[in-house]
Amino acid sequence: MLCLAGCQSGQLQVVSLKVEMQENPQGVSTPSPRFSWQITSPGVDLRQQSYRIQVASSEEDLKKEKNLLWDSGIASGDESILIPYEGGKLSSGKAYYWRVKVATNQGETAWSAINHWSTALLDSTDWRAKWIGQDTMSNPGETNKGNTRLAARYLRKPFHAEKKVERAVLYISGLGAYEAYLNGKRVSDDVLAPTVSWYPEKVYYNVYDVTPLIGKGDNLLGVKLGNGRYFGMRESPTMIFGLPRLLAQLNIEYADGSTDTIVSDESWRVTSKGPIVANNEFDGEEYDARLELPDWNTAKYDDTEWLQADIMEAPGGKLTAQPNPNITVQDEITPVHITRLSDGRFILDMGQNMVGWLNINLKGKQGQPVTMRFAETLNADSTLYTANLRSAKVTDVYIPAKDGAFRWEPSFVFHGFRFVEIAGLDEQPSLSDFTGKVIYDRMQTTGRFETSNELIDQLFKNAYWGIRSNYRGMPTDCPQRDERQGWLGDRVTGCFGEAFVFDNALLYAKWLQDIEDSQSPEGDISDVSPRYWTIYDKDVTWPAAYFYAAKMLWRQYGDMEPVKRHYASMKRFLEHIQQVSMQDYILTKDTYGDWCMPPESQELIHSQDPSRKTAGAILSTTMYYSLLNLMQEFAGITGNQADIAGYKELAAKIKDAYNQRFFNTDSALYDNNTVTANILSLRLGLVPEGYEEKVFENIVRKTEVDFDGHVSTGVLGIQHLMRGLTEYGRVDLAYKIATNETYPSWGYMINKGATTIWELWNGDTADPAMNSGNHVMLLGDLLIWYYEDLAGIKNAPGSIAYKQLLMEPVFPDGLSHVKASYHSVYGEIKSEWRKEDGSFSWDIVIPGNTSAVVKLPKSLNIAQPEGAGVRNVKETESGIEIELGSGTYRLVNRG
Ligand code: BGC
Repeated sequence: MLCLAGCQSGQLQVVSLKVEMQENPQGVSTPSPRFSWQITSPGVDLRQQSYRIQVASSEEDLKKEKNLLWDSGIASGDESILIPYEGGKLSSGKAYYWRVKVATNQGETAWSAINHWSTALLDSTDWRAKWIGQDTMSNPGETNKGNTRLAARYLRKPFHAEKKVERAVLYISGLGAYEAYLNGKRVSDDVLAPTVSWYPEKVYYNVYDVTPLIGKGDNLLGVKLGNGRYFGMRESPTMIFGLPRLLAQLNIEYADGSTDTIVSDESWRVTSKGPIVANNEFDGEEYDARLELPDWNTAKYDDTEWLQADIMEAPGGKLTAQPNPNITVQDEITPVHITRLSDGRFILDMGQNMVGWLNINLKGKQGQPVTMRFAETLNADSTLYTANLRSAKVTDVYIPAKDGAFRWEPSFVFHGFRFVEIAGLDEQPSLSDFTGKVIYDRMQTTGRFETSNELIDQLFKNAYWGIRSNYRGMPTDCPQRDERQGWLGDRVTGCFGEAFVFDNALLYAKWLQDIEDSQSPEGDISDVSPRYWTIYDKDVTWPAAYFYAAKMLWRQYGDMEPVKRHYASMKRFLEHIQQVSMQDYILTKDTYGDWCMPPESQELIHSQDPSRKTAGAILSTTMYYSLLNLMQEFAGITGNQADIAGYKELAAKIKDAYNQRFFNTDSALYDNNTVTANILSLRLGLVPEGYEEKVFENIVRKTEVDFDGHVSTGVLGIQHLMRGLTEYGRVDLAYKIATNETYPSWGYMINKGATTIWELWNGDTADPAMNSGNHVMLLGDLLIWYYEDLAGIKNAPGSIAYKQLLMEPVFPDGLSHVKASYHSVYGEIKSEWRKEDGSFSWDIVIPGNTSAVVKLPKSLNIAQPEGAGVRNVKETESGIEIELGSGTYRLVNRG
C-alpha cells in the first residue's frame, strides 16, 4: 500500500470565501447573512478546530479592528459553511467587509483576504422610484392578442453629478427584461434580467455597484425594456401581465458625505420607435438598424422627439432583492459547417444543440432583411425541421441600415437550436462570422466525469448540455418550442444529479420560492411554477419536486433554510391532498402517469398498452408516502417534532392499505408488475419486510425477459432504476442499460445524433407534437449513479454536504477506468480508479475539514494502508474499510 500524502501545494489557508453562497454579492437582503469558506493545507487530515469572523463597515476599520460590527471571537468547532452573522443590525444599502481565520490541528491560518457584500434596500420606504414605461402600443402590428407583438422600450434620464462620487449603487427591476446603461456602458454583463418570478407575488430587483461608471458632470442612465414573461409570448396559455415597466433608483454618495438619488419617475423620456421592433421569447427578435438611435444612452443625445414616460401600475408582487445570479453568456461556440441550399439560403450547423443566440458579423444590403430561423434538427433534404417547435416561430430578423458590414446579436430572446437557416445574404459567409452565445444562470461547473467507456462519457456530455440548456432563473422543461416552463415533475430526482455537475443551489432555492408563490389558497401546488401556466391538478408526482429539491439543497449544500422556509407550505399541500384525493389511504389522483415511457410502437408519444402503464394510484401513493417520510426528517430539523407522530401514523396506514390493494404476496409483485410499480414500491420503502429480494427479482425478470435488458420506464420509474438495480446487486444490468445502443436507450439517442437528451425515448420517430430534443427528465437518477456508484462519491449516512464521505465505487464488468471530480462546498472531491489485468489503483482526494470512509471489496485484495491521514483500517467479511482524513491518497492491490 502506498499512501501518498503531501500532494497538496501551498500552505495552510482559508479560501473560497462566500456570503450567502456567493463571492462578494451585491444586494443581500437577509438580516443575518451566512458565511462559508474552505480550508486547505499541504498536510493530510486537516481539521478545523475553531474560527473567528470579523465584520466592519470599511476595510480600514476591519484592518485596524476598530468599530467592528461583529467579532465572533474564537468559536470552537469544525463548522465552516453557512455560519450566520450575529453582529449589530445591518443597514440598508451599505457595503460590509469581512474576513475569517481558523485554527486547525495543523496550526492557525493568517487572516483571510478581505471580502465584502452589500445589503439590499431593506425597508420599503427606502424606495422612492416609481414604475414607469410607455403605456400604449403605438407601432403598427403591435398586439396583446394571440401571438403577442411589441417593440422594445428605450428610457433615459440625464443627471448631473456635482462632486466626486464615492459610491453609487443602482437598484433596478425591469419587467419582463431590461438592459441598463450608464453613459453608454452596460452596468453588467447579465442578460435577460431580472430572474423570472410569479409577478403578482414577487418582483425581483438587481443591485449593481456602478461607481466607476459615473463621472463628475453630465451623466445618463439609459434602460432598454423587453417583454420577457411579463408581456407574455401568447395571450393564452401563457400570461400577459401588462406592458413592460421599469423601476430604477440610483443612490449616489459623494466624497464629501452628501448624497443624491436618481429615480424612475415622470421626468424620464421614453420611446418605442427604436431598432428592436419586436421581441418575443417564442417567436424571436426583429431589429431594424434603420431605426437605430445612435448614442441614445449617452448624455449628448437629443430626446426631444421622445415621449414623457408614463407612470405605470406596480406589478403587485413584493419587491425583493434577487437572491440568485442572473443569466449571462457562459460559453461561446463556433459553427462546424455551412451548407448552401439551392435557393441561396444557408444552413449553419453549430455541432451542438445549444441554447442562447447567434452573434453575426456579416455583410448586408440596405433594407434587405437577413432572416435567421433556428431548429434542433434537419429534414432529409437539409432544410430545417421545425414541426416540433409547435407555434414558436424562433426567427430573428436584422435589417441593415446601409450596405456593408454589420455585427449584431439579439437582446431579449433566446433559442434552443443546433441548426440555423439564414436568408437574405448575397455573399457566402464563413464559419468565423458566427458565434453561438450559450446562456444560462451564472454558476460554477462543479463536476467532471470521464471513463474508459466512450458512450458513458458522451452521455455525460449530453446531460451537461441538456442541463445548462434548461437553467433560466427556473429549471425549464425545454428551451425551443412554445413551452419553456418550470415543470416540476421533470426535476424531482434530476435536481440531485444536476447538483454534481453545476452549482445549482441558488437557482433551486429561488425556484422553491416560485413554487410557494404559485401555491393555491387551498394549498395545491401548480405543476408549472412560476405558474405562467396554472395547473392545480391535485397531483403528487409533479409537486413532489418541492420537497425533493428542498432535501437536495440540504443534503448537497448544507442549506437548511429552504426546508425551514417552506415547511408550512409543504405541510399545507400534504393536508390538502389528503383531504381531496385520499380514499381509504390510497392517493387516487394522478394526471401524467409514468410520463414518456417507451411506447410499444415507435410513432406513439404515449403508450396505449395497459400492460406497460403503471396505475396512477401506485405513482401518487408511493410518492406521497415518500413525502411523509421526508416531512418526518424536515419536522426534526425545523423544530416541528410534534408533527412527526402524525406523519408516521399516516405513512403506516398508507403502506398497509397500499400493500393490501396492490401487492400480490404470492408472486411478490405490484399490480400489473411494471418495473416502475415495483421499483417505486421497493426504493420508497413500501415493500413488506422480507419481500424485497423477491420484488427485485421481478424487476430484473421484467427488464431482462420482456424488455431484453432495456429500460421500460418513464420519468417516474427512471428516477430509481440505476440506483435500485445497483443497490440490490445487479450493477451489470444497470451498466447494460446505461450503455445500450438499441431502442430504447440513451445510447440510441446518441447514435441518432442527439447531443442533448430527448423528451421521448423514440424522439426520432414520434409525432412532433410533443418531441423536444432537449429535455432532461429522462436522465432520472443516471448522474447520481455516475457519481455515487461508478465514482463512489457519496454522503455517508447522516452526513450533510459531504462532510463525511462514503467512498465505495462499484465495478461493472467492461468498465476499467473512472475519473470523477466534484466541487463540494468543502472543496474538490476526486475519485479516479483503474482496474486492468489484475492490477487496481484508486486515487482519491478528500477536501480539508472533511473525512471519508472508504470501502473496497475483498476480491480486490487491497494492501493495508498506513501513514498520516489513515485514521482506522478494518478488514471485514466483505472487504476492507478505511477511515481517512482529508488529503490525497492512492490505494492499490497487493502484488
Ligand atoms: C412538458 C414536460 C412536462 C409535461 C407534463 C410537457 O409538455 O414538456 O416536460 O413535465 O408536459 O405533462
